[in-house]
Amino acid sequence: MRTQVGIVGAGPAGLMLSHLLHLRGIESVVLESRSRADVEGTIRAGVLEQNTVDLLVETGVGDRVKREGHQHKGIELRFGGVGHRIDFDALTGGRAVTVYPQHEVLVDLIERRLADGGDIRFGSTVTAVEGVTGDAPLIRFTDASGAEETLHCELVLGADGSRTTTRGLVPETTVRTDHAKQYPFAWFGILAEAPPSSDELIYANHENGFALISTRTDTVQRHYLQVDPTDTVDDWSDDRIWSELHTRVDGEGAQIKDGRIFSKTVLGFRSFVCEPMQYGRLFLAGDAAHTVPPTGAKGLNLAVADVYVLAKAMARYFATGEKDQLDAYSATALPRVWRAQHFSWWMTSMLHRMPGAGGFDHRRQLAELDVVTRSVAGRTLLAENYVGTPLF
Ligand code: PHB
Repeated sequence: MRTQVGIVGAGPAGLMLSHLLHLRGIESVVLESRSRADVEGTIRAGVLEQNTVDLLVETGVGDRVKREGHQHKGIELRFGGVGHRIDFDALTGGRAVTVYPQHEVLVDLIERRLADGGDIRFGSTVTAVEGVTGDAPLIRFTDASGAEETLHCELVLGADGSRTTTRGLVPETTVRTDHAKQYPFAWFGILAEAPPSSDELIYANHENGFALISTRTDTVQRHYLQVDPTDTVDDWSDDRIWSELHTRVDGEGAQIKDGRIFSKTVLGFRSFVCEPMQYGRLFLAGDAAHTVPPTGAKGLNLAVADVYVLAKAMARYFATGEKDQLDAYSATALPRVWRAQHFSWWMTSMLHRMPGAGGFDHRRQLAELDVVTRSVAGRTLLAENYVGTPLF
């Protein structure tokens, strides 16, 4: 088997790159270890930056996100029991975010790739990637029927998520530096059958810990609670979850609406960046290269931004043989990655309770939130970063 670009992973980065390359007349094959049903059913975060939505629309995969996504023109920061609105519309000149779950983006991309004759191999496990420092890389994989196959390609995309195996091809210490930060907490996520509790997302700082009120549809809501990282779903009964959500969020202008909880998950929490994001003909994108904590809702958006850069660089390479833009990939993509790292860390640090933190730390946090929400400059900084800066 032979193609121009071999793509490991059918997540946002892999599928979006395959789609963008197709529009530029470049062939790719996507190898994905999970089944199509798994990829399309795994629940992840759900906030799309304006740039991401614009790119989906401009490239012909935005019909459903336009129709079914919910545009949000602001968010609420809640602290001291009072809500403070960050008005994206006014602060960013009419930009907004769209709440549309990541797996729905994947459904749309898969449908479009298959309609365009794209080659996505679900249930295919990559066993080796070889020759990325030479001219003729190859990817060995076991396909869904158990047969051993080899895919020859000119360029390889490692887009296999935070549990990546492709990142390991970049030699540690001599070439690769991993920058990682752990946090002493996790998020407990629920899906509940209930009407929306709020028109906009609520990010709440409370002495018991952070809470986030989000939404999926008019009848399904998505909420999160900061919990201990060793907690499991069995530690949290439905009553305990609702009682904690009410304690952390209810107050002036906010009243959480209870409902039947039908999904509970504990989400790990870390910041991570691998530098560089290229090794020879291997390029890393999305969570394979970097992970953000979910507080800034940047994960999918960063994956899309990575492959937006790569698609252009790959198109130039295939049209002219010039590798200059490919070799500049890390230097082009990393400043945006680090800005998103800073934003996600900042939102996290302002809103979560650090275990062992005393009265001083909590009051300092409240003062920071007061500074940010009181000043137009503070609100604008938050709004610009939340809706996302222009792609490049
Ligand atoms: C979500 O709806 O899943 C969500 C929203 C905002 C975040 C993180 C997750 O910051």
